[in-house]
Amino acid sequence: MALTIGVDVGGTKVAAGVVDDRGNILEKVRRPTPSTNPKETADTIAEVVDLLKGKFEDVSAVGLGCAGFVDETRSVVMFAPNLAWRNEPIKAIVEGLVGLPVVVENDANATAWGEARYGAGRGHDFMVLVALGTGIGGGLVIDGELYRGRFGVGAEYGHYRVVPDGRRCGCGNRGCWEQYASGNALVYEARELARVSPAMAGRLLELGGGKPEGINGPQVTEAAREGDAAALECFRTIAQWTGQGLADLTAVLDPGCFVIGGGLSDAGDLLLEPVRQAFANALTGRGHRPLPEIKIAELGSAAGIVGAADLART
Ligand code: BGC
Ligand code: NA
Ligand code: ZN
Repeated sequence: MALTIGVDVGGTKVAAGVVDDRGNILEKVRRPTPSTNPKETADTIAEVVDLLKGKFEDVSAVGLGCAGFVDETRSVVMFAPNLAWRNEPIKAIVEGLVGLPVVVENDANATAWGEARYGAGRGHDFMVLVALGTGIGGGLVIDGELYRGRFGVGAEYGHYRVVPDGRRCGCGNRGCWEQYASGNALVYEARELARVSPAMAGRLLELGGGKPEGINGPQVTEAAREGDAAALECFRTIAQWTGQGLADLTAVLDPGCFVIGGGLSDAGDLLLEPVRQAFANALTGRGHRPLPEIKIAELGSAAGIVGAADLART
């Protein structure tokens, strides 16, 4: 049985797993991402790989899904809006640390690949992945292949400008889509609501330990599941931005299927239904064209691990 390790290096967590050639995860570990220190990030990657490798002898390669702009040789992370990588030769560094061949891919591309092969994108020739997490990741699978652009950094639509002079983004610009529709954006909405309308945001504040800054993403989802009006309002706002963004992407790409992944996709229908609504209200030519499907990632937040591991095999 051919085993590989997939590591999803996101803005918040490093999640790794041993994956078999049918896309099954046999064992998983996760650590927080040391966001300000590339050396510690590489050490964390090596630590989780060593841990997994110690338990499974026949691991042949490692796939890294990195939250940043991977160069066309797929060895260097040139830039990462939400991490400290700047021209980081991550392939060479991690190969040196773990003693296995390493394949590097953008994290959202890896997620798209995992979903296309083993998840919600199966059977679709033209699939667009939108990963809602710390930022927004993009991945395009066209005719069964990952689309990487000319220089390796295609599908970075998290940095599509949706608000001129809007909120500042980690990429250095303002008004990027990921500032309005990611997991971080959900938290931003919830904290703002708690600051401005504490009376309305009672449940959110309670979950956050009494302070707006204490509120995190899973808590907003938890409150929304309970039916809390403030949390549901935050979800509606995020879904509105998400659905509009998918409509804009449809104007450019006309895909058969959108798959929504990333940590926020754990919210399932709470997110999906209002996203579909917002999409239907915003699409150009609506009523006069076929509609793409909009689905939640089937592998959930593990899609990045599975995709990265699979890319290391091929
Ligand atoms: C980065 C992408 C990454 C995404 C999700 C964005 O800010 O530009 O490279 O895929 O976040 O982690
Ligand atoms: Na991408
Ligand atoms: Zn940006």
